Amino acid sequence: MNYVFITRKILDPAEKMLRAKGYQVKVYPGDQIIPRDELLKGVKGASAILSLLTDRIDEGVLQAAGPQLKIVANYAVGFDNIDLEAAKRHGVVVTNTPHEKVTEAVAELTFALVIGLARRIAESDKFAKAEKYHGWSPTLLIGAGLPGKTIGIIGAGRIGASAAAMGVKGFGMKLVYSDMKSNPEIEKELGAKKVSMQKLLQISDFVSLHVPLLPSTRHLISTKELALMKKTAFLINTARGPVVDEKALLKALAAKKIAGAGLDVFECEPAIDCDVRDQLELKKFPNVILTPHTASATIESRQAMSETAAKNIIAVLSGKKPLNPTK
Ligand code: DGY
Repeated sequence: MNYVFITRKILDPAEKMLRAKGYQVKVYPGDQIIPRDELLKGVKGASAILSLLTDRIDEGVLQAAGPQLKIVANYAVGFDNIDLEAAKRHGVVVTNTPHEKVTEAVAELTFALVIGLARRIAESDKFAKAEKYHGWSPTLLIGAGLPGKTIGIIGAGRIGASAAAMGVKGFGMKLVYSDMKSNPEIEKELGAKKVSMQKLLQISDFVSLHVPLLPSTRHLISTKELALMKKTAFLINTARGPVVDEKALLKALAAKKIAGAGLDVFECEPAIDCDVRDQLELKKFPNVILTPHTASATIESRQAMSETAAKNIIAVLSGKKPLNPTK
């Protein structure tokens, strides 16, 4: 009988779908990131692992599972937590969950950060709750309007394009993008212009990151890139933390080289700040909005991720091609 190990409780319907196929399903019962020793124990004898982005799936895990392992179905769009080379060596298929509901959810939170930064929503909330509001003022918490402003998307895949569409169609923003590949669809439908990343950084009022974490994208945004941005521009990262050099970002914020940042992901996640010894901390900046990697956290998205991961497992264990192979 096929045994499927799920590394943490997730939303329905994955477990039900897998049990309905007659597989033996075990879910790690702790409501926490699975400890390494539990992971190594849990995967033993599994034909499929349903993993989360917080699980490091490497040679050790693949070996602990055994030669019957056929698929690692990651419960995320990103799969930088998985050693793809090791999986290939073991003949294990790796899949992800690029469902349209996930695209919508992440794009939505990206845009929530855009609006939140532009209209200083977190600062305003803090101000009002601290009972500092003593009457309407012509200059209180003035922000920036969106129409006519430029949003720059670094990585114009599904999520980047969807966030950009909200800006263009909903708020009359202009759109530029940088990517290795052209995206003719957003050029045609949203009037997007493809530019170099340097140019994008120079002309955008909002720079939003939508690239996967790869060796080539680690610290894609560092001192040099931040220096190219306008002093009035905001940086938004809903991709992966290490795409931004957090130390460089802190320095740019302290020197007011950019206007602020909206971050859903962090370089040393789950730590918000990698190192607080130098006194610069993201959480101390009022012009920085932080969300705890919740971009995909809608019921619709998390259920779609669950269903997609289960469908990939069922396909592979039935000898069929997976829906969402990572390559
Ligand atoms: C993903 O799907 O990669 C997201 O980061 C999960 O929220």
